[in-house]
Amino acid sequence: MNHFGKAVSILAVSAAFSLSAQASDVQRGEQLHQDNCISCHVSIAGGDGSGLYTRADRQVGAYDSLVTQVNRCNVNLDVGWFDDEVEAVAAFLNDRYYKF
Ligand code: HEC
Repeated sequence: MNHFGKAVSILAVSAAFSLSAQASDVQRGEQLHQDNCISCHVSIAGGDGSGLYTRADRQVGAYDSLVTQVNRCNVNLDVGWFDDEVEAVAAFLNDRYYKF
């Protein structure tokens, strides 16, 4: 294999890795969100609490502000997530509800 072929196959492998990392982030975020966030949102919005994310006058209007809002809840509620956990929950909420 020449150098070019090698570079192409390395790119293909790392693209596959980052795709699977995203999928597992979403799963992890779903679990974190389930454990720390849903019960209060249910008491506000009823149902499964997701009405907060899908209502017409929702606050979050872009992916950046979704990350900011997730982190704001994390800090205010003293949940103690690291950045990668905040990112995972934002990835989950975006994948399931916001779709930016
Ligand atoms: C103690 C109650 C409570 C808990 C626990 C809570 N939230 Fe919230 N959340 C709220 C309230 C209240 C709002 C704002 C509702 C409004 O503006 O009408 C909100 C709004 C949000 C929004 C913005 C919704 C929109 O308008 O687009 C996001 C995103 C969010 N919360 C994420 C989280 C995450 C992530 C967690 C877990 C770390 C969490 N919340 C835990 C009470 C809570």
